Amino acid sequence: MLEARGLTKEFDSGTHHLTVLRDVSFRVPQGALVAIVGPAGSGKTTLLGLLAGLDTPTRGQVLLDDADLTAMSEDQRAQLRGAKVGFVFQSFQLIPTLTAIENVQVPLELRGDAGAASRASALLERVGLGDRLDHFPSQLSGGEQQRVAIARAFVNQPRILFADEPTGNLDGATGARIVALLEELNRESGSTVVLVTHDLSLAERTQRVIRLSDGAVVEDRMTGSGVHEEGGVPGLSTTEDTEISAGGAAVSAPATAGGASAVAGAVRDPEAS
Ligand SMILES: Nc1ncnc2c1ncn2[C@@H]1O[C@H](COP(=O)(O)OP(=O)(O)O)[C@@H](O)[C@H]1O
Ligand SMILES: [Mg+2]
Repeated sequence: MLEARGLTKEFDSGTHHLTVLRDVSFRVPQGALVAIVGPAGSGKTTLLGLLAGLDTPTRGQVLLDDADLTAMSEDQRAQLRGAKVGFVFQSFQLIPTLTAIENVQVPLELRGDAGAASRASALLERVGLGDRLDHFPSQLSGGEQQRVAIARAFVNQPRILFADEPTGNLDGATGARIVALLEELNRESGSTVVLVTHDLSLAERTQRVIRLSDGAVVEDRMTGSGVHEEGGVPGLSTTEDTEISAGGAAVSAPATAGGASAVAGAVRDPEAS
């Protein structure tokens, strides 16, 4: 379960006072696949940073399972990110001097995971790059680099994965394939996936769309598509419906239990838009 409670983010620059997020609240059940949409500057990246524990709100709380991220020290949040959070950036953020398989192994090696090489190659196989293990990022297309970045973000089976416009630098068809891959991995792993996109047709492929405008949630609705439309996820059980209030409207979100809990590294994206 991920919950935002009354999240408000303000910036003060001496002369200017800027409210970037206004009282944002929602709950995302474990295993869900959610899209956050909104125009440039509406606060999507800021919100993702708060939800992932990379930044702290001016007011409000972020709850990830039983932990209140906003009550933690920076070190505690870093530890929690390492244990539970994966992050995929628009600009891929692969390490240029490492091959595809080495990039995917990085989070595992940070944990001292002995089976790193075989897990990394299995996951690259899974994202369709089994024949690209030893390619450097410069030898891969944009879509291939993003698939490596997704493999890296999933390699520790994070409880929750955030993706900030992961299709932003890709053409439409490649972007659709990236979202389909996130969908499949979400279904297989039980990881919650929170996807930021300004592409509405991609957002409609997820289960739920949360729309931001000028820092406020102006829409929160189920799409009718996604993994739950055919009666749930094999191997996982749909156990509860969660009431979500958004702008006065109550919508119902299916919750998926079970799945993965492990570790993935998250780093700050210096180029995040
Ligand atoms: N560190 C910051 N200091 C001041 N303003 C910021 C900072 N980070 C973001 N903003 C402002 O917050 C607003 C929302 O930014 P952002 O979350 O990046 O939007 P989006 O990802 O939806 O394009 C923008 O107007 C941006 O200029
Ligand atoms: Mg952004």
